[in-house]
This record gives sequence, C-alpha cells and structure tokens, in this order.
Amino acid sequence: MAPPSSPPSSASAPISRHLRLWLRRRGRAGAAGATFAVALLAAALLLTLSYYASVASDSSSVRSPALVGLTLVSGAQEKGALCLDGSAPGYHLQRGSGTGSHSWLIHLEGGGWCRNLKSCASRQRSILGSSRYMERQIEFTGILSDDKSQNPDFYNWNKVKIRYCDGASFSGDVRDELQNGTRFFFRGQRIWEAVMNELVFKGMRKAKQAFLTGCSAGGLATYIHCDAFRALLPKDSRVKCLADGGFFLDVEDIAGKRTMRSFYSDVVRLQGLREKFSNCNSNLEPGQCFFPREVVKHIVNPVFILNPAYDAWQVQHALTPESSDPHHSWLDCRLDIAKCSSEQLEILQGFRKELHAAISEVKQKRDWGFYINSCFVHCQSLNSLTWHSPTSPRVNNKSIAEAVGDWFFDRREVKEIDCEYPCNPTCHNLAFVKPFKI
Ligand SMILES: *[C@@H]1O[C@H](CO)[C@@H](O)[C@H](O)[C@H]1NC(C)=O
Ligand SMILES: *[C@@H]1O[C@H](CO)[C@@H](O)[C@H](O)[C@H]1NC(C)=O
Repeated sequence: MAPPSSPPSSASAPISRHLRLWLRRRGRAGAAGATFAVALLAAALLLTLSYYASVASDSSSVRSPALVGLTLVSGAQEKGALCLDGSAPGYHLQRGSGTGSHSWLIHLEGGGWCRNLKSCASRQRSILGSSRYMERQIEFTGILSDDKSQNPDFYNWNKVKIRYCDGASFSGDVRDELQNGTRFFFRGQRIWEAVMNELVFKGMRKAKQAFLTGCSAGGLATYIHCDAFRALLPKDSRVKCLADGGFFLDVEDIAGKRTMRSFYSDVVRLQGLREKFSNCNSNLEPGQCFFPREVVKHIVNPVFILNPAYDAWQVQHALTPESSDPHHSWLDCRLDIAKCSSEQLEILQGFRKELHAAISEVKQKRDWGFYINSCFVHCQSLNSLTWHSPTSPRVNNKSIAEAVGDWFFDRREVKEIDCEYPCNPTCHNLAFVKPFKI
C-alpha cells in the first residue's frame, strides 16, 4: 500500500515498510494481531530469501511476485514529457498472455503532490521527481499480480504501472520554471500523453478490454484522465476506471481550517491547472476544482470508487494535520485508530459521513460502482493482502478483487457500503510509527 511519499515496492522495500507499518487486525485478541504481524514479517523474510538466494520454496503457496523492468519514454525531450527534474518518465510493462493478450490494465502510481518550488526541489532528488532514482525493476502485486490465486480476473492481462514524477497527478503542462539556477518541469499531462501513445503502439490500440486504475494521487489522476483513456480505445471495447484511495475530501480539519483546499490551491497555481479544469464552476476557488467531488461531475465513462471510510492518509493530512493540532492531542489516534478516544471517533464518523455525502451523486449512476469499507488504510488494490487473499478485508463476504471483478465484467451491480468502524473484523488497519509524508 504505497504511502504517498515513500518509495514504492522494490525487492527490499516491503520488509522495511512492514517493519514500520504494523498491520493490525481489529476485532481479534491482541495475540492474534501479534501473530499476524509476525506471520507478515516471516512472509517478508521468506520473499527476501527467495530473491537473494533464489531459493525455490517447496511450500508453493508463497510465490514471489514478478519483477518487471522500467522502460523510459523514448523521445521524451522532444515531446517535452519530462519529470520534475527534466529526466525522462517511465513505466513498467508486463505482457499479457492467453485470454488476456488483448486486455490492458494500467495503473497510475501515487505519491502526494508538491505545492511550491521548495518541496518540488526536494522531489527532484527522489523517485517521485526523477527517473534517475527510480528502481530498475519493481514487484507486481495485488491488482498487478500475474498469479491467478491473488488476482483472479486480471492476472493474465497486459499490465502497466506508470511511474509518478510530475508532482500534480499527471495534470500539469507549463513551460519551464527557473529558480536559483534550477529548472523545474511541470509536465504531467504530457507524460500521460506520451506514455499512452507508446502503449497504443505496443498493442493497446487493439484492446478488447481496458482498465485504468491508480492509487492515491494516482487515484485522483484516474478520475482526471478516465474519459481521455476511453477515447484512446476502440469503440467496441469494454473500458472502465478504478480509483483507489483517491477520493480526497474538501473538509474542515479539527481546527476548522480548509487545509487540503489551500494545499490544492497551491498545487493548482504552481502547475497552472486552472486551465485544465476549464469546465469547473468559476465561482469556486481554484483548489476546489482539483477535488474528485468536482472532477467526477464531468466524467462520462464508468468509474469504480474504492475508498476506505477512514482513509489513513486523509485522516492524517486533511482531518488532523499537525499544524492544526498544536497540543498533539491527536498524535496517537492519527497513527492508530484503535487509540482514538470516543470524542475523536465521533469526529472520524463525521469524516465518514462527509465521504458519503460527497459520493451521493455518483451513487445514482447505474453503471458506476463503489466499495467503501470501514478500515483505516490507504490504497488497497496493490497489496495482495488487501486486494485478494483468504484474510483480505471483506464487505458482504466479498474481497475487493471479487467486487471489482464482478463490477468490471457486469456480473452484478456493486455498491458496497460497510457499517461504521469498528464493525468490520476483516479490516487490515494500519498502525504507524510516524505519519505518511505528504
Ligand atoms: C533559492 O535560494 C534562496 C536563498 O538561498 C532560498 O531561500 C530558497 O529556498 C531557494 N529556492 C528554492 C526553490 O530552492
Ligand atoms: C464467504 O465466501 C467464501 C469464499 O468466497 C465462502 O466459502 C463462504 O461460504 C462465504 N461465507 C458466507 C457466510 O457466505
């Protein structure tokens, strides 16, 4: 579950991440939670062993995920499709096979946003702003897994993970900015177009089915680009979109401030996005146009909203930002929902109600789907444990993978709303040592 600003999976990253983020199951005795965490570490170790010693495990239940190489966009310079630092953007492509050869699943990576030159400058020196730092190979897990038992409906599709290096959800398109001798490139829109262009030529133009997905800032990008994606594909193809953990809310925080709105206003100003959202109501502040609640009003193609009601990133940064909690009274609760007081839980229930109000319009759209579980997590489609496993979170006894698959293939209408926390014992609630970075 790629936290917005921490490195996405590489061979060794999952272990350190799992060490830091102890997943804990609610509704069970503490001992069960501890056992689960230990089991997770053991699984991580097992994977490491198989990577570094090429040990073939004879208990074939744990199959190590495929490692997929990075492809840099060709002619990026001429196309002006560049990461924040001017390097070429990239993506990882794993070819499909058999019945999946003409089906394409695209995943837009997330990783927060940068609101000013200073924060964008530090991104330029990281995987989120420069392909010079990106892993040359990454693991494909969850919705990207090629293992049928982990990814029953999409395992044999062509799958692509597009790396995020523009700082504004693949949306900006402005000229270079020069500051203190450093060049900044805000070209997310061109990155989107250049990668799509390459994929179309690599076979996507003949797709019979296509699925645009993304998580966090990539989930927001999925809302933003869903209709453009549809337009690239054959008219008779089945094309849908899945936004995971991307429904960011324009809420008042615990101090009554619109922290997210001012954050988004900065991003919109910095990357000149107001023009991109020309159909956004002109009475709104520029930052408001970047919220999914506004973006979805204009989407025609069917979208699936996968979001936890207590999105851990949003609880930490939209609802209880540090700047609005000078006495650190939220310190424990924002790291671990099990440590919230009853007053704090009331506020979290209010946040859940705001999410339901914000998606009330799309609830009416017949061909849209949603799955709002009452877990304290962020991004559930990329992790095998939360996407589909014997112990994955369930709503009405359906894993996320089953619900998304049922919806994509029109096997049934999927509009799953979970009951209020702490009702769902199947959640994998995160417990943090420190908050997600922006
Ligand atoms: C530019 O330099 C000034 C002075 O050294 C510094 O305060 C500022 O943060 C720098 N700006 C950026 C975007 O790095
Ligand atoms: C829940 O789903 C599982 C697997 O899909 C099934 O084996 C089980 O019987 C279901 N449980 C209930 C209570 O329906």
